[in-house]
Amino acid sequence: MKLLFIGDIVGQPGRNAVKTLLPRLREQHALDFVIANGENSAGGSGITPKTAEEIFSAGVDVITSGDHLWDQKEVMELLANEKRLLRPLNYPPGTPGQGAGVFEVQSPKSKAQSPISVGVLNVQGRTFMPPLENPFLFAAQEVKWLRELTKIIFVDFHAEATSEKIAFARFLDGQVSAVVGTHTHVQTADEQIFPGGTAYLSDAGFTGPHESVLGREIEPVIRRFLTNMPQRFEVAKERVILHGAVIEIDDASGKALKIQRVGEIVNG
Ligand SMILES: [Fe+2]
Ligand SMILES: [Fe+2]
Repeated sequence: MKLLFIGDIVGQPGRNAVKTLLPRLREQHALDFVIANGENSAGGSGITPKTAEEIFSAGVDVITSGDHLWDQKEVMELLANEKRLLRPLNYPPGTPGQGAGVFEVQSPKSKAQSPISVGVLNVQGRTFMPPLENPFLFAAQEVKWLRELTKIIFVDFHAEATSEKIAFARFLDGQVSAVVGTHTHVQTADEQIFPGGTAYLSDAGFTGPHESVLGREIEPVIRRFLTNMPQRFEVAKERVILHGAVIEIDDASGKALKIQRVGEIVNG
């Protein structure tokens, strides 16, 4: 089976990019399943029922998130009712929402007769990030029960440090189909398949305006670095690109066969 993971969708330009490009990408890559990180989908910070609905109607099957998940108060409603939205797993027990789920592929394009189940796991790093529970321990435990349901498992590891990302993915090598990083908004060029069969990319990049600093207007960010005073960071507008990765997975073993970075510019 083939899945597309879309890096952090930033604001309206990011949502529009998904709407515009996803139908063609689904065709072109014969995609079975689409996962997107939506932590910045509402005005650059957080996610609301409205922006989540927009992303789902554009053809995304599951939305993952990260540290910006909590920025809009309407997210509580989503976490209570929307099983297709995941939050990082390693928040303390009792936190609303869930960090993992198993989803059915609606119409598998491969030769597989039986329906295909995909496990999706969202975990957050803690190096240069808020101090959550240990992502390695939480993920290992969660992967154990996910593997009883399916061997096809995708992990969005939302983290800052490449060392933590690589170590985390190496730790899960052979246990999951793919680990792709998010949060830095900068796509890395280190896509590879580890010896155990886990596909890896340190960061998927972000989907939104790239004439920017990580999706925000350039000038206020420079002013912030010059003066250290707080600034309003509006979402930028120009050079909108969809960033992500397509991963091909063997249905029976859950091992990755191929990983390819995606960078598609929206014209006009
Ligand atoms: Fe982000
Ligand atoms: Fe983030």
